[in-house]
Amino acid sequence: MTGRAAPGTSDLPHDGSGHRAQLADARFRLANGTTSRRLTLNGPAADPEWAAKQAEALPHYESDIDRPPAAVEALYREFENYIARFLYGRRDLAVLDVGCGIGATLPPYAGLFDPGRSTVGNAYVGLDPFAGAAVRAYPFVQGRLEDLPGAIEPAFDVFLFATSLDHIRSLEDTAAAVRKLARPGAHAIFWVGLRDSALLGRTLGATHLQPLFADLEPIAFLGRWLKLALYDLPRHYAYFYRQNRRLRHGRPLDRLHFHYFTSRTVDRALRPFGEVIDRFAPPGSADLFATVRLPA
Ligand SMILES: C[S@@+](CC[C@H](N)C(=O)[O-])C[C@H]1O[C@@H](n2cnc3c(N)ncnc32)[C@H](O)[C@@H]1O
Repeated sequence: MTGRAAPGTSDLPHDGSGHRAQLADARFRLANGTTSRRLTLNGPAADPEWAAKQAEALPHYESDIDRPPAAVEALYREFENYIARFLYGRRDLAVLDVGCGIGATLPPYAGLFDPGRSTVGNAYVGLDPFAGAAVRAYPFVQGRLEDLPGAIEPAFDVFLFATSLDHIRSLEDTAAAVRKLARPGAHAIFWVGLRDSALLGRTLGATHLQPLFADLEPIAFLGRWLKLALYDLPRHYAYFYRQNRRLRHGRPLDRLHFHYFTSRTVDRALRPFGEVIDRFAPPGSADLFATVRLPA
């Protein structure tokens, strides 16, 4: 992220001291001795293609923030449980949420880091290039992950990527940044959406079959069945067919992402980060949660 600190936020010191910020007690301790809950990074100019995708995505984030679709809400809860399962029996970890979004409060999958709910001393830090809410209820770094290693001492035990990995241009640079910021024994926990048509088809089952059987009056049922067979299914088939062809030829599926993972390609995408030690596919979704152990 380029640019200056917004009024009321702390910027990194430009005193030439070469000191990097430190994370202490869920605050950033800056080289000039002050502490802050917010850090604004001064990276090199953002690349224009990335900036254009970010600008295109922002209205989607803004419209979903207060009322995410029910299926996404369910995944938020499942991802929170997945993180909690990893944290069970572990304590005093520093967690960096890479691409935490724009909200003033903790993201829905990160409620377990609310100090009131206490997950035995674990400290949560959100990072996102968008300034988002002027005041955030959690320690926050505004900037790109790629620009963080020069600005802060290695400080994190857990890295969360909740549907953010496909928005970052280079998987190799992302993995390199994570390694520079990691303390020994660190892990990364991913939530990625998959693009396999069979998995996406599974999510359509819930959308289309549930209303089909909601009213068993025979004529109404037949009407809905015909609409499904003659209109909805052919429409989805055409969409998946086009999408598969684009995936095969390495063409983008939309204007928001850099990467489009499938069951076949996701392992290759996670390999630069380390060894995948756990995978979980939430039932009925086209998503994957995975935990990676970073190299020692
Ligand atoms: C789909 S949103 C996910 C937000 C949040 N994790 C959630 O699940 O509600 C992806 C986020 O990744 C962020 N992002 C994009 N490029 C990034 C980068 N280079 N470093 C860190 N975050 C980035 C975006 O600004 C965006 O907020």
